[in-house]
Amino acid sequence: MNKKVEHVAKNGASDSEEEILRELLEVDTPRRRALEVIIGGALAALGVGMAIPVVGYVRAPERTGEHGGTRVQVAELAELPPGSALKVALDDRPVLVLNVDGEVRAFSAICTHLGCIVLWDDTGQFIHCPCHDGRFDTNGQVISGPPPAPLPAIPVAVEDGRVYLGRA
Ligand code: FES
Repeated sequence: MNKKVEHVAKNGASDSEEEILRELLEVDTPRRRALEVIIGGALAALGVGMAIPVVGYVRAPERTGEHGGTRVQVAELAELPPGSALKVALDDRPVLVLNVDGEVRAFSAICTHLGCIVLWDDTGQFIHCPCHDGRFDTNGQVISGPPPAPLPAIPVAVEDGRVYLGRA
């Protein structure tokens, strides 16, 4: 043990000895410095790692409603040729956007039977639920199978070659 520390341990510390003790305890060794850098770096990386998903979650998709609405651009019309469909997400829920009969329509892609995700059948031009062979027409109405209700329609608009979901 350091003699000064030993002395202080036996006799108590004067003000100057307290100062010396404080200095002895606050020695800045390379190991300690390296440890501080490693811990600091790890905490910074952890903070950045946590911030990225939070920012991604909080950041709203492109919303363009002029009247305070929640209209979201989901596609370019060029990506949706006549007779085709696109699956997109609106507030993390799947939506099927169709270009049929000269207009664009959108429906929830969650089957009204047991919640499977429906698909567009290009060949048959209908919406198909693969889980129990439920079928919906291009208006979201049930054609056959167990679904008890139509697919809910989602407001959709096309402007300047862009497809928007939601209300303006
Ligand atoms: S979940 Fe779609 S038909 Fe059953």
